[in-house]
Amino acid sequence: MKTPPSAALPDNCGLETTSESLARVRECLAAAQDVLVISGAGVSAESKIPTFRDADGLWQDFDPEEHATREAFLRDPVKVWKWYDARRINLAQARPNPAHRALAAMAVSDRRVFIVTQNVDDLHEQAGSREVVHIHGLLWRLRCERDGPALENREAPLSEMPPLCMCGEVMRLDIVWFGENLPRQPVERIRPYFWEGRIDLCLVIGTEASFGYIWQWAVHAREQGALLVDVNPRDRGLGSMADVRLRGKAGELIPRLI
Ligand code: OAD
Repeated sequence: MKTPPSAALPDNCGLETTSESLARVRECLAAAQDVLVISGAGVSAESKIPTFRDADGLWQDFDPEEHATREAFLRDPVKVWKWYDARRINLAQARPNPAHRALAAMAVSDRRVFIVTQNVDDLHEQAGSREVVHIHGLLWRLRCERDGPALENREAPLSEMPPLCMCGEVMRLDIVWFGENLPRQPVERIRPYFWEGRIDLCLVIGTEASFGYIWQWAVHAREQGALLVDVNPRDRGLGSMADVRLRGKAGELIPRLI
């Protein structure tokens, strides 16, 4: 994972969502058997979970080098843990928004909807989506910094700061920090999905697509024949690579597709 770019473009660079664009995606979805969703922080923005690179995003106020790297954590686990504790408290109060719910509703009996999310919240699952891969981990899982499996922990706020493993070592979040590799298990879940066959529709929702693998997966889906759709209020993320750009909020646009 590379460190994030900080560039910000003006909102909605003159692009509007037309009814023709919506109709095109709706038509594709109606016939689709395999839908790949690649989601980012924007899909949870309307659930009051802050994004990272927007004008009011987390990286405006917090340095990722100081909060989202293993080095920072080892230097000062309490500081890093306090930051994540606050995010866990916020997440504990968050509920799925209409975008999460519409994506869950897309998975009807003869249609598979496979969600690859960069989000460390569980709002897709709360909305009822069953096939969700968290490539950057989950805020509700902890693991020993030294070794061992990830364990579910939903305590927010944490009663012990920093939380400790039974072996005495500090526990860390089971998430991916800058400079770390993607975990093997979610990547292995994604691979066969691409090999198994054709993806009809690929919805990329609420992400800057800052990481190469997001681009690769989206391009791969398009090469397989998928209609590639970018959903974002601003002309960011996949931009011109998408077949259709739906400019607006996910919570308003995604329900209009079904
Ligand atoms: P970003 O914060 O980089 O991008 C969020 C995107 O969502 C922006 O392009 C916004 O324009 C868009 N957006 C905002 N509100 C929206 C809404 N209501 N509906 C649709 N889109 C909206 O977040 P990600 O691309 O998800 O990693 O960031 C990826 C990774 O970088 C994160 O997992 C995180 C971050 O640094 C780590 O913390 C390690």
